[in-house]
Parts: sequence; structure tokens; C-alpha cells
Amino acid sequence: MRSGLRYPADMQKITIRRPDDWHLHLRDGAMLRAVLPETTRHFARAIIMPNLVPPVVTARDALAYRERIMAALPEEATFQPLMTLYLTEGTDPADVAAAAASGLVTAVKLYPAGATTNSHGGVRDLAKVMPVLEKMAEIGLPLCTHGEVTTPEVDIFDREAVFIDTVLAPLRRRLPDLRVVMEHITTEEGVAYAAEGGDSLGATITTHHLIINRNHILAGGIRPHYYCLPVAKREKHRLALRRAATSGSPRYFLGTDSAPHVDALKEHACGCAGCFTATNTMSLLAHVFDEEGALDRLEGFASLNGPAFYRLPVNPGTVTLEKHAEPCTWPEKIQAEPGPVTVFQPGFPVHWHVVS
Ligand code: NCD
Ligand code: ZN
Repeated sequence: MRSGLRYPADMQKITIRRPDDWHLHLRDGAMLRAVLPETTRHFARAIIMPNLVPPVVTARDALAYRERIMAALPEEATFQPLMTLYLTEGTDPADVAAAAASGLVTAVKLYPAGATTNSHGGVRDLAKVMPVLEKMAEIGLPLCTHGEVTTPEVDIFDREAVFIDTVLAPLRRRLPDLRVVMEHITTEEGVAYAAEGGDSLGATITTHHLIINRNHILAGGIRPHYYCLPVAKREKHRLALRRAATSGSPRYFLGTDSAPHVDALKEHACGCAGCFTATNTMSLLAHVFDEEGALDRLEGFASLNGPAFYRLPVNPGTVTLEKHAEPCTWPEKIQAEPGPVTVFQPGFPVHWHVVS
């Protein structure tokens, strides 16, 4: 039995501060309009990923994208998009500094070129972006990292661990003041590195990586809706992520990485990476934390640790979840104008309902 458990094991109701999503893909246009309500229903803020086509590179791009998001908000929604810039080898440190100073951007995103969806404009040579990173270290602007190397010789299941050893650790030794978020960690190596990183390091964990391992994608047939990047790893890594998320450590916080793609592009000979979890994340997380006997730590993971890292206030509102005998239902698909988007299915009944 862990000490400090505030809620009895048969706890049927929990109220937490309104959560935030520290890693979210909203896309643009009709897809943005279709998926945004799925996030604003429960979340007060989200770090908005900049990997649009073309990407959100400059302060001007971020301002225009922010306006499109605000224009797409459902009526009565109170939601704050926290904008990010997509780091390229041409990024101007002064533009980044001005965007940060004005409050327009909350972080800069590093995509190693070729690592994931729309990352071809990302960084090939870290030396070329050092002036930007030095400026960010100076002003305290966080760098969100897609932590995978793209070297073809490195096995896809090892890309995160190799990134930590060959890119992240040397970068942080060189720029110890740089504030870094290890986005969507998927391995015990990621968990361990984040644990030792001190206050300048945070790590987001997705909902789906707490639920699936690589067997879910590959055993008994290829299941494209479980394919995402970084790809889910062995069971021991999923268990390490569960221990980290429910540990109460302030290093780990929720970043759903909810990443909508239309079914036609997921169920495809070369299917897109991404799981769409915006709709049911809070129910799924309550289920996972309940299973781990850690419901008292859900609030830290979903609502407190992220704001603490980003130096933002916690949200004023709350959400309440109740465990009902009836399992939750949610739409199998979100009907977006470009086509249906399949909602992540955990493969087991979930009894935690968001009631208010
Ligand atoms: C994301 C996407 O589709 O934009 N896909 C994913 O599998 N997570 C990109 C990313 O965050 O890697
Ligand atoms: Zn992502």
C-alpha cells in the first residue's frame, strides 16, 4: 500500500482542477473545427503543435494560427491555445524572443527532420539552431523535443533512447539553463532520464502509451489506429510510464498527443502516425490511475505539474469524474468534413464518466 493515499480504494468520485493538454495537434480548417470541441470540453489550455502544412515557423504564423483557432472555438468555450513555433534551421532568434516577450508563444518545438508527420522542415544539424537555443536558454523559453533520432541504421524502437544519449544529454550539458520538455516519452530510458533532470526538465506522457504496447499494433493483424510516433514499445516500457505518471513526481505531466488523421489515411498502405484521444482521455486516465491505486495523483499529472513547469497558474475551474456501473460510451468516429476520424479505443470497458 502506498502512503499518502487520500482516496479510499472504492472511491467512486473525484474532483480535480480543470486539466490542460501539454501536447496537442489541432490541424487547421475543417479538421480544426471538427476536433477542437473534443478538447475544449474538458481542457482549459493546450500546447498547440506547429506541424501544419506549411508549418508554424514565425511569430506571424503563430499569430495567424492562433486567430484561426480562436475563430473556430465553440460558443461558450473558455479555452486558451498556447502557441508554439516550429524550429527550422532558418529560425531567427530575435523573432523567437519577440514572440516570447509578447506572450504569443509558450514554447518552441524541435522536430528532427523526418522524425514524424510534417517534420521534413525540421532540424538536420543542431549546430545551425544553436543561436536560437542559446537565446531560449537566456530568456527561459521551453524547448519541446520530439525525442527520436532518424538515422536509418537505428531501429525504430531504439530511436528515443539513442536520442537521449546522442542529442539530448549533450545539448543539456552544453546549455544547462535551457528548459526542455521531453515530449511523449515512451521508454524506461525516457522515464529515468526525466527523473534525474532537475527543474529545467519535464516530460509529457500520452494517454495511449499508458494503455497500449507494441503488441496492440502488430499482434493478430496490423491495427493502424494504434500506430503513432513515437511508436509504442514493449510492455516493460508501458509499465515504466505508468509508474512515472502515477508517481506523484512533478517531472511528468499529460500531453495527449491527440493527432487526428482521417481514416482513409490511417487505413492505408502507408498509414499516418497518430492516435486520436482528445474525446476520451480524461475517462481513460481515471481508469488507469484507479487501476494503479493512484487516483489521488491524477490531479498532479493532468492539472498541476504542467502549469508548474510552464510557470503558469493552475486553472480556476474543476472537472468531476464518477465511476458508474455503466461503461462510458463515446462516438466511434468524429465526423470531420475531410472524412471520419476514429476515436482511440482502449479495448476494455471504462467506467469513469466526466460528469461536470
Ligand atoms: C503526430 C501528427 O500526426 O502530427 N503523430 C503522432 O503519431 N504523434 C506527430 C507527432 O507528434 O509525432
Ligand atoms: Zn505530437
